[in-house]
Amino acid sequence: MPSATLTIDPAFTIAPVNRRTFGTFVEHMGRCVYTGIYEPGHATADEDGFRKDVLELTRELGASVVRYPGGNFVSGYRWEDGVGPREGRPRRLDLAWHSIETNEFGLDEFIRWCAKAGVEPMMAINLGTRGVQEALDLQEYANHPGGTALSDLREQHGASPYGIKLWCLGNELDGPWQVGHKTPTEYGRLAAETARAMRMIEPDLELVACGSSSSAMPLFGTWEREVLRETYDLVDYISCHAYYGDDDGDTASFLASAVNMDRFIESVVATADHIGAELKSRKKIGISFDEWNVWYRDRSRRTDGPGDQWEVAPRRIEDEYNVTDAVVVGNLLISLLRHSDRVGVACLAQLANVIAPIMTEPGGPAWRQPTFHPFAITSRLAAGQVLQVRTNSPTVSTTKHGEVPAVDAVATYDEGRLTVFAVNRSTEGPIEVTIDVSRAGVTTVDEAVLIHDADPLATNSATQPDRVTPQPLESAQLADGKLTITLPAISWTALSLSTD
Ligand code: AHR
Repeated sequence: MPSATLTIDPAFTIAPVNRRTFGTFVEHMGRCVYTGIYEPGHATADEDGFRKDVLELTRELGASVVRYPGGNFVSGYRWEDGVGPREGRPRRLDLAWHSIETNEFGLDEFIRWCAKAGVEPMMAINLGTRGVQEALDLQEYANHPGGTALSDLREQHGASPYGIKLWCLGNELDGPWQVGHKTPTEYGRLAAETARAMRMIEPDLELVACGSSSSAMPLFGTWEREVLRETYDLVDYISCHAYYGDDDGDTASFLASAVNMDRFIESVVATADHIGAELKSRKKIGISFDEWNVWYRDRSRRTDGPGDQWEVAPRRIEDEYNVTDAVVVGNLLISLLRHSDRVGVACLAQLANVIAPIMTEPGGPAWRQPTFHPFAITSRLAAGQVLQVRTNSPTVSTTKHGEVPAVDAVATYDEGRLTVFAVNRSTEGPIEVTIDVSRAGVTTVDEAVLIHDADPLATNSATQPDRVTPQPLESAQLADGKLTITLPAISWTALSLSTD
């Protein structure tokens, strides 16, 4: 059997584990909101119409921050439509997803839902069809304590200030599909003006400028450079978005998707630091990786059926994930954690039904996709400091990423507790992995779980919700400061060790 070694030292830290790495995303798209998190009349619905089964799964997922309300949707959205008495709310055309938006759920409901889910809101503003004034109005409504028209309106709606700290200045405005698509200079100027004005109300907001919607965009690099030239002193983060897929049957490349994520993050960091150098600034711009996931089964952007109907909450991109997808998601989390020194926020897109870890049926059950598990386990176990892991591994040849290590790993260390997350990205067979944990002084394996299946295409469903679940990793053995495990082909594992 091929073998790999990992060496870990608690002294070699990268950065503290950032809870905002475990963010997700709720967009008004398909059934993410309607019949996803919100379904009045459902057997589990609470007094607000929120599905309690989905709230419970969101808490189990370990989500920390939730981005809202889009996505492409936000670029044509009027936030005022979704506040106050429901009876008066207008129905609107949603151009992004070719749907009807009823506005039954809006900002007021989202903030109540966040409180119940125990998550922090991350609010995106419309810089597609709108501009500075509407962003300021939204901020006044959401955050100003009172005594002005919009803060008093919120009070009339029965709500205290929302205290939203984290704001996205638009969404994917580099994309020609975006309503209000812009050049980097047009967007950079608008983002800078908006940020400057928002900081006149609250100087300590955390603001995210839009980066590229993927590292394959024609302007990738140029977009970040031009946008940051306009906004460097005014924003805290630049965003990255990435979706990975096995669409062309190239499973070896798909399994190594985290290599692309590593390069993506490092390229954006290099570009941001270049602008920092030009400006002779000590400030470092962080990365908000506020859309990431596996997405390849349903790429339909507008209509999923004949007739091109305008419907309310149609089924859109409801990818059914398998074991291989879960291994890739686990590896993408390894990449995000490894870059904790620069990645300040990350959001798995999305939360319910739409390329999501949680699936629901209207009037029916909610269940976990296989991708739910690596996310929930990583969120639960990652703590303290992220550690560098020295990896010596056999390699895998991929057409998209070249020769890559078959084993990839990251570790965290928190007061005597060491946690290791690792993947075997090979499709060929098992690899014996020896982990030198002697410098951590750990003596007990408290938890060792594995995501793997004899059928790498196995999925969960409403009728078989637990076909794919984490299994105990029976092979884990710890002796003389060396932990030995056997990682089957296409597998992800988490190991938690302590000093008793
Ligand atoms: O998450 C689905 C869509 O993907 C989002 O609306 C958009 O920002 C991205 O292109």
